[in-house]
Amino acid sequence: MHEVSVHCIHHAQRESTHPLTKERCSLKGARAMHSFARHRPSRASKASAKETKGLILNGGWRYDLMIWFIDTFVFRGQLRQLRQRAAILARIQPGEQVLDVGCGTGTLALEVQRRVGRAGRVAGIDPSPQQIARARSKAARRHVPIEFQVGVIEQLAFPDQTFDVVFSTLMMHHLPASLKRQGLAEIARVLKPGGRLVIADFKRKQERQGQAARFHAGGSSMQDLAALVKDAGFSQVETEEMRPPRFSAFPGAGFLRAHKS
Ligand SMILES: C[S@@+](CC[C@H](N)C(=O)[O-])C[C@H]1O[C@@H](n2cnc3c(N)ncnc32)[C@H](O)[C@@H]1O
Repeated sequence: MHEVSVHCIHHAQRESTHPLTKERCSLKGARAMHSFARHRPSRASKASAKETKGLILNGGWRYDLMIWFIDTFVFRGQLRQLRQRAAILARIQPGEQVLDVGCGTGTLALEVQRRVGRAGRVAGIDPSPQQIARARSKAARRHVPIEFQVGVIEQLAFPDQTFDVVFSTLMMHHLPASLKRQGLAEIARVLKPGGRLVIADFKRKQERQGQAARFHAGGSSMQDLAALVKDAGFSQVETEEMRPPRFSAFPGAGFLRAHKS
């Protein structure tokens, strides 16, 4: 049995002061974030989509446009900061092999590719063919060789001990509890011994305060996730909080970093 310790690093965010009236309007935008959600693949994408119990997002470029709008005018850049922070926490080295599980339209994978360089390898999987098509076109436009695949966390199509780092950003709240456990076991399988797992997710609704508590989408408790991650055989589990700016519709988020034993 491993002895596992959980350290908490509090990461205070700058407080913003935008007026409440604006917030009421912006909450509509926040709810729109999951308007591309499908519990099952849409008819158009059904042929090539993977079956999953997770909540699939579709939309491709329309999803990117909406996220850009929400992040810029509603969340005030907090989603961009969240992805940057996740990449920093992973301590990526040039030449490393990295997987982004639930990569959506590939925004984080593109940032990671810049960090691993040409000697490294970046892969991203998502059950939505539309999101994967969009991710591929973004990578092609930048001439970077990222491997985007339609796939699910239930069964990662990679050999054991392939990756140095695995990311999951804003994805865990899309999975039912039993699938989180199964997915973490799959992540542990594809990570090399000593490999790092970095998870970022919205805060659980009950843990939010003020306007952010009304944000309709689900979220994760970092304490619960830490317990699941330890059960999946990870050690050195650390969590960090990203607090929402005051009066913001950003629901707050948490990060978790762990090492495969
Ligand atoms: C809110 S998006 C986050 C996308 C991206 N990671 C980001 O940070 O922008 C959550 C993603 O998880 C994906 N997802 C849902 N079920 C999944 C599963 N079983 N395996 C992998 N990804 C899944 C959805 O299709 C969606 O693209």
